[in-house]
This record gives sequence, C-alpha cells and structure tokens, in this order.
Amino acid sequence: MEGGSPRTVAEELDAADPLAAFRERFVIDDPELIYLDGNSLGRLPAATPGRLREVVEQGWGGGLVRSWQGWIDWGARLGDRLAGHVLGARPGEVVVSDSTSVNLYKLAGAALDAAPGRGTVLVDAEDFPTDRYILQGLAQQRGLRLRRLPSDLDGGLDLDVLRGALDRDVALVVLSLVSYRSGALLDMARVEELARGVGARVLWDLSHAAGAVPVDLAGAGAELAVGCTYKYLNGGPGSPAFLYVRRDLQAVLRQPVWGWFGQREQFRMGPDYDPVPGIERFLVSTPALLSLAAIDPALDLVEEAGLARIRAKGLLLGRLADELADAWLAPLGFRAASPRPAERRGSHVSLYHPDAWRICQTLAADAKVVCDYRVPDRLRIGPSPLYTRFTEVWDALARIRDTVAGRAYTSRPAGLARVT
Ligand SMILES: Cc1ncc(COP(=O)(O)O)c(C=O)c1O
Repeated sequence: MEGGSPRTVAEELDAADPLAAFRERFVIDDPELIYLDGNSLGRLPAATPGRLREVVEQGWGGGLVRSWQGWIDWGARLGDRLAGHVLGARPGEVVVSDSTSVNLYKLAGAALDAAPGRGTVLVDAEDFPTDRYILQGLAQQRGLRLRRLPSDLDGGLDLDVLRGALDRDVALVVLSLVSYRSGALLDMARVEELARGVGARVLWDLSHAAGAVPVDLAGAGAELAVGCTYKYLNGGPGSPAFLYVRRDLQAVLRQPVWGWFGQREQFRMGPDYDPVPGIERFLVSTPALLSLAAIDPALDLVEEAGLARIRAKGLLLGRLADELADAWLAPLGFRAASPRPAERRGSHVSLYHPDAWRICQTLAADAKVVCDYRVPDRLRIGPSPLYTRFTEVWDALARIRDTVAGRAYTSRPAGLARVT
C-alpha cells in the first residue's frame, strides 16, 4: 500500500510531545499491546493501586467507621476538582455519585417536574442507549411525548433539525456533547441558546467529552450535565459518575430519588425528606468509597497535564489517524465514519467497514491492537492523549492495514460477543 506519512513523522511528533512523560505514570503491562480504547475504559494510573491500598488498609482497616468523618464529603470534594479543571464549572456545582445512567434519571426527572405545563422531551435518536431508554421510561411514567431527533450516524446532529423540533412544548433536550459512535462534537453554547429561545432545558451527557475536550459549562450557560469518570478520566471500571447543576437552579430543582444523603442535617434522621439547598441534594446514598478513592490519583494526572494540552495532542493524534486511514485503509473497504477535520469531534474516530466486528476481534487476538466495535459496522479508535504515542497510532493503523489485507479475519465468527 502506497502513501501515508513515514513512521519518522510519528517519531518526531513523539519527540516533541509535551505530554510524553505522562505515559510512564500509567501501568503499561505489555508494551507491545496498542491500546486504543481509552474512550471505553481508561488505563490504570500507576499511583492508583497504592492509593487504594492506603484507603483500604488505613481508612477501612485502621480507621473503621471513624473514617466516614472525612469520607463523607469526598463526592463534593471530587466534584469541585472536576468543576475547576475539567468541566468549566464553579465550586459547589458538581458532585460525584452513582452512575451516569442514575444521574441522568435524577436530573431529567428533576427538570421534567419543574416544567409541568410542557409535554415533550427531545433526544438524539443516535444517542447512547442508556440515555434514550431512561428518557423513554420517564416519558412513559409521566405521560410525555419522547421525540427522537434524526441524526447522521457519522456527522452527528444537525442543529437545524434541533431548531425545527424546538417549541414551547419542549421541557427538556438531552444530548451528548461528543457522540459515542462517531465522536461528533456539538456546539454547547449554540444549543443552549436555541433551547433558551423556547424556554427548554438542556441536559448534557459529557461521558465522551470529559477529560478529552475542554468543557466550559459556565461559559456556555449550561444548566445540567452528567458524565462518567472511567473513560478519559481513568477512574477505573464502573467508577462513580458526576453530575452538574448550575448553582441558581439547585434550590429550585428536586430530584426524584429521595435518599438520606440529600437530607438537611442527615444524622438527625428526621421524619420527612427536606433536602439541603446545595448540590448535595442530588445525592442519594452511601458512596462507593473505594471507587471514589480511585478518582483522586486519576485526576492528579489530568489536572497536571491540563485540558488545553490534552486537547492539542488529541487533535494531532486524530489528524494522524485520519491521514493514515485515508492512505492505507480506504483502499481496503474502510470509510471515515466521523466528522472531519478532527476539531469537529472528541478524541475518538470511527471507521466504517462491513466486517468491522470480525476485524476488531482479529486485531485484539492476533495483532495486539485493542480498539472496539460499535453497531452496525463501525471500528472505533480512541487514542487517549495522556498515554498514547503517535508511533502507536502509526503502528496500529499499519497493523489494521496488514490484518485486513491478509483476510485472516474472515474465519472469525460473525456473531457478537457479550461485550463489544
Ligand atoms: C454517552 C454515554 N452515556 C452513558 C454511558 C454509560 O452509563 P453507565 O456508566 O451508567 O453505564 C456511556 C458508556 O459508555 C456512554 O458512552
């Protein structure tokens, strides 16, 4: 196969990479394995096992129940770290708790209850399934209409489609800032402006954006957001999610799960639910403390690197992937399935191929390239900037080229695995 930058170009980019040293602060068990799935589960920060051991042995083993005096505010403390360094929010506007799905349920429920005269909820028809399902359930329970906005699988939601669907019956719009499949990046400020024009609220899912692109919730006038910490934030499998509610709305909105962690003077154990006025009213229950503990060492790295530098490297990684995909993979039946240029998406890029699933399995089994597959026929490549080298992207694309050209993938089973 001809064309494509020579490997020396990737080597030069590595040599000039201001974030190169961060790779050493992650556990790289097998240096031969090219991991391009940081958009699903981020790598393990080297400091995390020690930190967890400390919390387990000293906090749990030594401190026992007394440790809760300090632990109890960790969700809010971590929320403030995220607010300041990752989300462009103010202190007291973000809290870490529960999962993205549960937080979405809580905030969507709160927003719908606060808009009693309105009967429509809008969602991107191609949004991540959990978001669509949760809204479907909420709409059904409340007798509302859920409108699924048609959206391009590769290009993302066209704002003219959103504009056309917005009217004074719309209570809530739920959108992902970065699309899970194509990586398409929306203009948050523009969406907020459109929704504000008809008095609708927007709830953002930032799962694929947080830690990959600079997010400016305050600057965009955003009111509500949720997102996970296990992708680009490297908090670990199933690590607790975050939720954001703009300060002026906190006392006005009431979420539907009335747990004791939202309660005023929680340990007075009063007879009736009476939530605190601040962000903690969106909490429900005892936090999964050991999972919360893994978020601290992960955020140390993101904060030190800074979102501006992470994004700058993410764009360069994305451009290299685009260029090599065009040169090497397009002649083999692949097609770009993400917006171009890289500025129009988050940190991952998708490629269409009719045999994407079998190719994905073969890459992991035979070529030591871990990326992932998304239905119907997309190979998703997520080079997380904190620990991915430019030469890894070059080598991975070369291995994909050789794997597909060799056609060994055709003997793989076509049926999907339990997890893709
Ligand atoms: C956009 C988006 N929302 C939500 C989730 C998952 O939510 P949960 O952590 O509740 O399973 C994902 C998982 O990949 C996602 O991509």
